[in-house]
Amino acid sequence: MKKIIKKQASIKPFPNPIYVTRPLMPNINDFYKKISDIFDAKWLTNSGNQHAEFKKCLLKFLNAKNINLFCNGTLALDIAIKALDIKGEVITTPFTFAATPHVLSLNNIRPVFCDIDEKTLNIDVEKIEALITPKTSAILAVHVFGNPCDIEKLDKICKKYKLKLIFDAAHAFGVKINEKSIGSFGDISMFSFHATKAFNSIEGGCLMYNDSQLNEKIQLLKNFGIKNENEIAMIGTNAKLNELQAAFGILNLKIFPKEIEKRQKIARLYRKISEKTKGIKVMQDIKNVKHNYSYFPILINKEEFGISRDDLYLKLKKYNIFSRKYFYPLCSNFSCYAKNNKPADLPIANKIADSVLCLPIHGDLKTSDVEKICKIITIIKNEK
Ligand SMILES: Cc1ncc(COP(=O)(O)O)c(C=O)c1O
Repeated sequence: MKKIIKKQASIKPFPNPIYVTRPLMPNINDFYKKISDIFDAKWLTNSGNQHAEFKKCLLKFLNAKNINLFCNGTLALDIAIKALDIKGEVITTPFTFAATPHVLSLNNIRPVFCDIDEKTLNIDVEKIEALITPKTSAILAVHVFGNPCDIEKLDKICKKYKLKLIFDAAHAFGVKINEKSIGSFGDISMFSFHATKAFNSIEGGCLMYNDSQLNEKIQLLKNFGIKNENEIAMIGTNAKLNELQAAFGILNLKIFPKEIEKRQKIARLYRKISEKTKGIKVMQDIKNVKHNYSYFPILINKEEFGISRDDLYLKLKKYNIFSRKYFYPLCSNFSCYAKNNKPADLPIANKIADSVLCLPIHGDLKTSDVEKICKIITIIKNEK
């Protein structure tokens, strides 16, 4: 009898690797046509036809007043910091990708890490005011996994202390709050179009902002400070998006709404199945928010689940499932930041970084794959 039960519970690994994500790809023939257009135009970068079309499509999609396109999200964020003249100290979250605090450090700004909210995994707005000093010039909040921060409270704090409000919305392209794009809040928002994001232009990114007076400075900062043939108006870098990236982005934008629908189905299936498993916490949709399902994070409670997040991560690999410990390690524990940041001061962020695991989610994942992943997680839990 014992033998039969064991046999029933066994399951074969996936024959091919199941990655945490796969890039959204346009139809190859559509892309050939775009490449042909680019070859005909003989214009590869510096605001060509594809760039102009991509910008127009994005302005419409985001219902944005102003956007500027970049070769990646990191440089877009870097230029946002420079355009707003941010200095001194900036309050941010440690539970983010390395790019967020690094961009501050590269601008000689001290990232001041604030603990996170256990429910949303975003910066804990109740803990921000205690960290404000005369040197604080801005809050850099991250919409982690595409889940919106407490924008209203952040806005209130920033108005009260005359701080700039920047959103790292790298994960949140396509997210809306009450039908409004998430990029319409704060002083500037940055979206990343990296290949691993729900929407991509291979690499790329954009800034979205309401203040049209920033247009000129942002453009100068992104293109060596060149104002015209005879004038270099300031020190700037090269952060331009090229024509191939723009063409890829245009085509992907057309299929992005369908990609969100597919991801939503996967997220719903994961939630349904994982709700029955003790020791796993999943995040739910928020009322009035249109989500983009860019990630599917789960939180493992070792005591209840039976094994640790790290053990689950390793055991999933044996089944050819490649999940991701995201974000781990926590930014405040990087060797470059650890000196000023004790884990005891950021207890929630440290706890979450040790228990979070992002499961595979992308439009090509089949229902049967998701069901099998969930089954494997249950088997791993029961075999401990
Ligand atoms: C939260 C966050 N911020 C910033 C970035 C940087 O974006 P990019 O990879 O486009 O430079 C990423 C991306 O990977 C990210 O996840």
